Amino acid sequence: MSNTVLIGAQWGDEGKGKIIDVLTRDVDWIVRYQGGNNAGHTVEIGDQKYVLHLVPSGILTEGKKCVIGNGVVIDPVALVNELKEVVDRGISIKDRFFISDRAHVVLPYHGAIDSTREQDSKAGEKIGTTKRGIGPGYGDKAARIGLRMIDLIDPEFPAFLRSRVDRNNRILSALGADELDYNGILSSYQSAAEYLAPFITDTITLLNAAIHDGDSVLFEGAQGTMLDIDYGTYPFVTSSNASAGGACTGSGVAPHRINQVVGVIKAYTTRVGEGPFPTELFDEDGQKLRDVGHEYGATTGRPRRCGWFDAVVAKYSAMISGINFWALTKLDVLDGFETIRICTGYKCDGKVLETVPANIRALEKCEPVYEDFKGWLEPTTDVAEFSKLPKQAKAYVRRLTEITGVPVGILSVGPNRASTMDLRDIDLED
Ligand code: GDP
Ligand code: IMO
Ligand code: MG
Repeated sequence: MSNTVLIGAQWGDEGKGKIIDVLTRDVDWIVRYQGGNNAGHTVEIGDQKYVLHLVPSGILTEGKKCVIGNGVVIDPVALVNELKEVVDRGISIKDRFFISDRAHVVLPYHGAIDSTREQDSKAGEKIGTTKRGIGPGYGDKAARIGLRMIDLIDPEFPAFLRSRVDRNNRILSALGADELDYNGILSSYQSAAEYLAPFITDTITLLNAAIHDGDSVLFEGAQGTMLDIDYGTYPFVTSSNASAGGACTGSGVAPHRINQVVGVIKAYTTRVGEGPFPTELFDEDGQKLRDVGHEYGATTGRPRRCGWFDAVVAKYSAMISGINFWALTKLDVLDGFETIRICTGYKCDGKVLETVPANIRALEKCEPVYEDFKGWLEPTTDVAEFSKLPKQAKAYVRRLTEITGVPVGILSVGPNRASTMDLRDIDLED
């Protein structure tokens, strides 16, 4: 397979981990390029379930090389815990796992400031972050006061840390929060540094050399377009570029090396945290989507907000990232619905919008315009071929292709690796 970027095309949790796992077999390298341990990517293989936060999902396939790129923000202590868990489950990371020396470090004061900001926010301003310090971590990067992985393994690290802990303690104290203990942080970060040091390297040169030699790369996006700092529902977003552009800036691989972009979309929509969500359901159908789809956060366990498929969001996402095909997930969750709805536009002040407006106050007030669809009321999880799906399920998939203007290339009907159909070479009219 050529070099592929895989992104979430909604508000995250589209099933990226599962699709990455499926596509991993065709590539040599898997690269995370943005976000941090705010992500939670679930992969189910047989009776084993893995939830990965910082480590690329490709680690679960023996022999594949995995990179945490320069665009990721890393909590080293969380990363060590995650790696130890992976190793404890019998997976070797030796000679196949690499961390960019330019990736930024998330420190305990980032998490403390994240939590304090959330607590102090007025109603309507709270973002509902994962409290993993992601916003303050990227904030320090942009303000040029961050520390990078190369600094973590520098003998001068204690001094780098001291000045930052002192400064952030002044901030925390002014905010009425507890100050942090420098010695405690130093000791936990130094032991994490010792564990991680053998993996920290110049991943930019490493990846470009591999591509030059003919290796193929799969870029594993985290979050989704609507959480992208530039394109999402700002300020109710995360702090990185979750759309395809982030793959280049977050890995050091040039745009013309990327051959295709895969967009992962659920057959309905979910969102965790605050912010506008035009198709959100507050009725029985919303609860049914949450129950049947097990829509609870893989990182924080929070219940996800649920709603119908939003084709405006899908088209917007396809435009920004140049999506070649969809990986459509969780079709099976719709098996028990008599009527299924697709949002095709937003009604705002008497006009119908067909793209996502910048003004989120206006978006909050928009009414979705729906196209109704008859459900199939039959189980789909054990169906292995598109042609064997219930007639209405096939029609729903075709209609999504039509409305979004992007073909469905992969169809997922269950959390397991096995419940996946490759539709790339199939005529959906059959
Ligand atoms: P990610 O963050 O995009 O990787 O997605 P998450 O792992 O946070 O959430 C997706 C959830 O849906 C996980 O629990 C997956 O195991 C599950 N999942 C993925 N694909 C399917 C599918 O086709 N059907 C069902 N029922 N579950 C799925
Ligand atoms: P994956 O990769 C869903 C959401 C948070 C919050 C907002 C900002 O598993 O799809 P942050 O902690 O990033 O500052 O929070 O972004 N969020 C996610 N929602 N899936 C994710 O990742 C998310 N990562 C962050 O809930 O609304
Ligand atoms: Mg997730």
